[in-house]
This record gives sequence, structure tokens and C-alpha cells, in this order.
Amino acid sequence: MLLEERLAAVTGAGAGIGRAIARALAAEGAHVAVTDINEEAARETVRLIEEAGGIARAWRMDVTQRSDIVQVVGAIREWGGGRIDIWVNNAGVSTMNRFVDLTEEDWDFNMNVNAKGTFLCSQAVARAMMQQDLIPDSELRGKIINIASMAGKRGNAPFLAHYVASKFAVVGLTQATAGELAPHKITVNAVCPGYVATSMQERELRWEAELRGTTPEAVRELYIQDTPLGRIETPEDVARVVVFLASPLADFITGEAINVNGGAWMD
Ligand SMILES: NC(=O)c1ccc[n+]([C@@H]2O[C@H](COP(=O)([O-])OP(=O)(O)OC[C@H]3O[C@@H](n4cnc5c(N)ncnc54)[C@H](O)[C@@H]3O)[C@@H](O)[C@H]2O)c1
Repeated sequence: MLLEERLAAVTGAGAGIGRAIARALAAEGAHVAVTDINEEAARETVRLIEEAGGIARAWRMDVTQRSDIVQVVGAIREWGGGRIDIWVNNAGVSTMNRFVDLTEEDWDFNMNVNAKGTFLCSQAVARAMMQQDLIPDSELRGKIINIASMAGKRGNAPFLAHYVASKFAVVGLTQATAGELAPHKITVNAVCPGYVATSMQERELRWEAELRGTTPEAVRELYIQDTPLGRIETPEDVARVVVFLASPLADFITGEAINVNGGAWMD
């Protein structure tokens, strides 16, 4: 197993990509702190992990609330015997609107959860990681992994200007923090998924269909046509790459934003 004895935490792990990441990390032996704004959903992820023989615990945490984050980071550290080895900033939201119709609420909601949430969590966990010893059998103290998006590199994403801005921010923050935290032996990387089948995608299919005057099925077909490998991405496609970045196989990678999108965007 790649992550035996590691303590990993995942935000927004009550559904979709975050749940798949939590389950994949646990399957590789990590003890997983499952956090989500929806505590019941986080508990269900823990149940699924335990059912598969893994070790996990649930916390309610809103990534936009500094007080929540500081308290939960402290509690997770205690649970982890004083350390957090891997932190995955996955919690994210989206809404869709034509740029000319975008509201301040759309902007603030997306920026607050996606960009500010990643900032607040990264800062709290970096402060904790800086104080801990090296990960056993490693030259690193900790790893931070941000779930950005194809929309963090490709600005031409219809109806998503605000979301694009928030995800470009995540990629920028990944590079800036990777530089600043490298002397502390903390790596920071991002993963950029494409069109992933989750509840977020279900909502986007409905919104985009309405904005284009077509059906969700037709929009889904557009997503597939836009993907050279010819299918919708699964949460597990993303989770496997997060496991790689969390593992010793990726110890000398930092400041990267890795595309996992079936070829839908290449750079
Ligand atoms: N689905 C896609 O196609 C896709 C593509 C690229 C990137 N992403 C990114 O992947 C991540 C996960 O997306 P998903 O598709 O699994 O979404 P999802 O909506 O299916 O699940 C998101 C989870 O985050 C939680 N959450 C929302 N706001 C929160 C907050 N303030 N604090 C803590 N938790 C919160 C929700 O309760 C939910 O459990 C997001 O950052 C998203 O932007 C998704």
C-alpha cells in the first residue's frame, strides 16, 4: 500500500470527487479525516470507508469559515497523533450564468468557496505542517493537493466566467504556495479535472441546457465530443491521480497543476 500510516484530510468529502478521493486514500492505507459542510454526507463517506476495512472519521467543516477550519485542523491533528501528512482542498461550488447576467452573489459564492476556501485551509494546515517532523521515511513534512479544474487553465468555458476566475486563482495559489512552502519541505500541487459525473455536473447539465435552449442529454453529448478519449470522466479517474500525488512516487513534484481530463484540454 502506498499510504500506510499516513494521516490524510479531504475537504468537501461528503460527495462526488471528494468522496472518491477519501475512499481511494483509505484504500491505500491512509487514515482519512472526512470533512464537509454537510456532516451527514461526511458520515456516509466514513461508513463506506469503514465498510471496505479502512479507517476514517467525519467532521463538519465549512471551508469559508476560518473559525471552523482552525478548530477542525486542531481536532484532526489530535486524532492523527499530532500530525497531518496530506491535505486535499477539494470543496468547491459552481453556478452558471452569461457573463452579462452574472450577479455579485454568483461571483462571491464561487470565489468564497473555491478560492478563499483554498486559501484559508491551506494557510491553517501549512502552519500546522511547518511545526511537525518529517513524514516517516520521507524528506517532506507534508503535502497539499488542490482540486482546481480544466476551467483553471482554459478560460473559454461558457457561462462560467466567475468559476473560471476562482479556479485560475487556485492554480495561481498552488504555484505561489509551492514556492513559499518548499523551504519548509511541504509540496503543493493541483489536479485539473474535466467533465466529471457528480452532482455538480448534474446541476450544470440542467443550467447549461436551459441557457442553450436544449436538453441536458444534448449538453452531456457535447461534453463527450469535447473529450478526445470519448467518455465522461469518473470521480475515480481524479482520485487515482490524487493518490499518486499524495504518495512517495510524487515526492519531487511541486507547483504542478496536472490535467486529468481525457484530453479535453492539453497544456
Ligand atoms: N464535477 C466536475 O465536472 C468538476 C470538474 C472540475 C473540477 N471540479 C471540482 O472538483 C471539486 C469537487 O466537485 P464535485 O463535482 O465532486 O462537486 P459536488 O457538488 O458533487 O460535491 C461537493 C462537495 O463539497 C461540499 N461543499 C460545498 N460547499 C462547501 C463548503 N463551503 N465547505 C465544505 N464543503 C463544502 C458539498 O457539501 C459536497 O459534499 C470542486 O472543487 C469542483 O470545482 C469538478
